[in-house]
Amino acid sequence: MTTAVIGTGGIGSVIARGLASGEETLRLSSADNESARMLAAGIGRGAVVAAVDNRDALRGADAVVLALRFAVLKGVIGEIADPLTGKLVVVPSNPLSTDAHGNVSRLLPKGQSSGEVVAGWLPAGARLAMAFGTMSADLFESSRNRSPEPAVLFYATDDDRAGEGVERLIRTAGFEPVKAGGLGESGRLEVGGDLHDLVVGPAEARSLIGGA
Ligand SMILES: NC(=O)c1ccc[n+]([C@@H]2O[C@H](COP(=O)([O-])OP(=O)(O)OC[C@H]3O[C@@H](n4cnc5c(N)ncnc54)[C@H](OP(=O)(O)O)[C@@H]3O)[C@@H](O)[C@H]2O)c1
Repeated sequence: MTTAVIGTGGIGSVIARGLASGEETLRLSSADNESARMLAAGIGRGAVVAAVDNRDALRGADAVVLALRFAVLKGVIGEIADPLTGKLVVVPSNPLSTDAHGNVSRLLPKGQSSGEVVAGWLPAGARLAMAFGTMSADLFESSRNRSPEPAVLFYATDDDRAGEGVERLIRTAGFEPVKAGGLGESGRLEVGGDLHDLVVGPAEARSLIGGA
């Protein structure tokens, strides 16, 4: 199947590498497309190509991963809105910004779910799952294809079909999927959330879900 990855920076690049290693066909794009071209060349499989722009990345794609900083997410969704209808939309973004001194702050009021905010930006019919942003890029790289027990990637969605689609992508990238809850629970997956940056197997993951 074909997945578009829009944003090929810190997290988008490791997501793309993970999906490519599981034989997913990928169409990549980034702000000026240089990093998308470099990443496609670095992965070096014919099934991974750099698209001309964000809309072109969606051509023929079953799913899209929006690996973008939260502050640019709404604008990019507006740019590509029509083709998102009917597609799985996977968002790893944490609602954070970092100032010039490296201070990190949350862009949403305490308790407001980023998943519900992103859902409000999407066109009707887009199928949203918050996923792939639950670990730092380094941890993601070192944990994928863990053996003998795979590491878990948590996800959140209100949509059963999005859940099926994101579970397939999570397995393709070398992890075991576990649903943390609906979009209202996405704060648990973010930086500062109780499920963020955990490397656990499925049994422990399920007990943590119930333990909140
Ligand atoms: N990095 C991590 O370890 C990590 C882990 C978990 C979650 N996250 C979350 O994931 C999100 C992205 O983080 P990141 O570290 O990957 O950020 P990043 O390294 O700054 O990468 C952002 C990417 O977005 C692209 N981009 C910016 N504007 C765009 C536009 N209008 N159209 C298309 N692409 C555009 C950039 O393109 P260029 O390459 O051309 O500049 C870049 O490839 C954040 O919300 C972060 O909280 C990050």
